[in-house]
Amino acid sequence: MMFFIDTANLDQIKEANDLGILDGVTTNPSLMAKEGISGKNNQLKRYKEICDIVDGDVSAEVISTDFEGMIKEGIELSEIAPNIVVKIPMIKDGIKAISHLTAKGISTNCTLIFSAGQALIAAKAGATYVSPFIGRIDDTNWDGMSLIEEIAEIFAMQDFDTDILAASIRNAKHIVDAAKAGADIVTCPLNSILGLLKHPLTDIGLEKFLADHAKANA
Ligand code: G3P
Repeated sequence: MMFFIDTANLDQIKEANDLGILDGVTTNPSLMAKEGISGKNNQLKRYKEICDIVDGDVSAEVISTDFEGMIKEGIELSEIAPNIVVKIPMIKDGIKAISHLTAKGISTNCTLIFSAGQALIAAKAGATYVSPFIGRIDDTNWDGMSLIEEIAEIFAMQDFDTDILAASIRNAKHIVDAAKAGADIVTCPLNSILGLLKHPLTDIGLEKFLADHAKANA
């Protein structure tokens, strides 16, 4: 399973990249706004900065919701760097845009996926990735992880090449559960990735090893 980081924050991207486990980055308009990035030039600049840090795929989302606008933006974004993936919302014109960009050889990530049907039609249109939003489904008292399982079953059965990119990850358990459910990629906040490292018995064990070493070498 691949690990992406879900942020537009350069320090966090560098920190995850320095761990040697980072395969890519996803962003969205909310994450760009959180970093205080506004205006087209600043947005394009930030995507370029991210692509300069990470070799893997970097999702950059379109703002347009009409076909022509999405194609124009998508082509412009794809010209920033070869590892840019154009992130397109799950709407009717979005599906049309994914088909069009796929035919032009441009990678796409269909975002805001909340059902197996949405994932199926995005895959049929040729999306490189589909992004089911686990945490936001859990927030509505439904089971986000069962959606990953359902999509994984359909894609395997129907032999789709589209990768399942589990998004809206909120904690380390989500990452482990997404791995078990068949996600190809998880995109996570840095804290959720770092949460994977934590166990109290590891801390207690290390403290004891170091104390015993110090005693023996006093
Ligand atoms: O990038 C899309 C997704 O990961 C957003 O997550 O936490 O805003 O639901 P969240």
